[in-house]
Amino acid sequence: MSSSPLIMLGIETSCDETSIAIVSEDRRILSNQIYTQQKDHVSFGGVVPELAARAHLERLPILLKEALQEADLVLQDLSGIAVTGGPGLMGGVLMGVLYAKAIAATLHKPFLAINHLEAHALTIRLTEEIPFPYLLLLVSGGHTQFLWTEGIGRYKLLGASLDDAAGEAFDKIAKLLNLGYPGGPALEKSARLGNPERFDLPRPLLRTPHCNFSFSGLKTAVLKKVEALPHPLTLQDKNDMAASFQKAVGDTLIDRCQNAFKVCKAFKSSFPFVVAGGVASNLYLKQKLELLANEHHLPLKVPPLKLCTDNGAMVAWAGIERLKQGLEDSLDFSPRPRWPLEDLFNAKTNCKKVTD
Ligand code: KG4
Ligand code: ZN
Repeated sequence: MSSSPLIMLGIETSCDETSIAIVSEDRRILSNQIYTQQKDHVSFGGVVPELAARAHLERLPILLKEALQEADLVLQDLSGIAVTGGPGLMGGVLMGVLYAKAIAATLHKPFLAINHLEAHALTIRLTEEIPFPYLLLLVSGGHTQFLWTEGIGRYKLLGASLDDAAGEAFDKIAKLLNLGYPGGPALEKSARLGNPERFDLPRPLLRTPHCNFSFSGLKTAVLKKVEALPHPLTLQDKNDMAASFQKAVGDTLIDRCQNAFKVCKAFKSSFPFVVAGGVASNLYLKQKLELLANEHHLPLKVPPLKLCTDNGAMVAWAGIERLKQGLEDSLDFSPRPRWPLEDLFNAKTNCKKVTD
């Protein structure tokens, strides 16, 4: 391998963000083009998979051109092509994977199928020098999990949501309150103006001795309280409900984190506590987690806002981390709409060692 830093293309199409980024091994984001499809889905109040897939296909060549221009590079300068290979919406993942394979095959460059959750898990190492192991709280639209992160491809699942993911709950409550789409940021904004004490909502699984989550009971409780209010809801009703819901999620996360800390302290006395995924961009939750981490003398690490939600830079970085370990994938990789992180432990996908 040459001594010049690896330069990786990263492609992300697993949900409603189309993104292409170029990242170098020395942690420089040379370009991170993100096309947010929100306006394509806003009138439906959620992501429409077929529309998303079509928009990805249309946008990818445009974003590639813009990324290369901004980075002042040509395709031949790339060391490899990394793409989200799952989990995610099948149509979108397929578009990204086909596009990445075509580039990799044409250029005879390494192809890397990245697990989207691993891309979130490693993002913090793109922005800071953080050694393994660390405790990861992954809070996104599709997942809420604690993972003991020991290295590339080495994740131990400590607990996960038994039903809805935290981001999904934010999205559903935002939709119920008619706050707009995407739901998470809209609800956070509304909550800033509300009274978090007005509605008495449950804290699911509070004080139970494990690291799992549950958000569906909280969602049902909000629905019942909303139904009991005079309609149409006032702006104050909505803000108060948003604030009460957000506080309940915060209390639940804090309670679950205490269990996860206990489990991890048995592995190692101190470790970074990393929070990643779209919900990690919520400032209220971040502040609560910061206080808790301080109490437990654990350094809290959260990627910058723009790298919490889906982006190509995190995919490119995961590609760099894997290629540095001599890992790449074969071009017959099949997209995996379901792809638990623990599966990487066995590396039983199409992954091969370059040196083999
Ligand atoms: O990581 P991400 O971009 O995509 C997935 O991998 O799912 O996360 C998206 C999720 C959505 O559910 C969105 O509502 C939530 O993250 N989210 C937020 C905030 N920003 C994004 N949730 C709460 N507060 C926010 N500020
Ligand atoms: Zn994501």
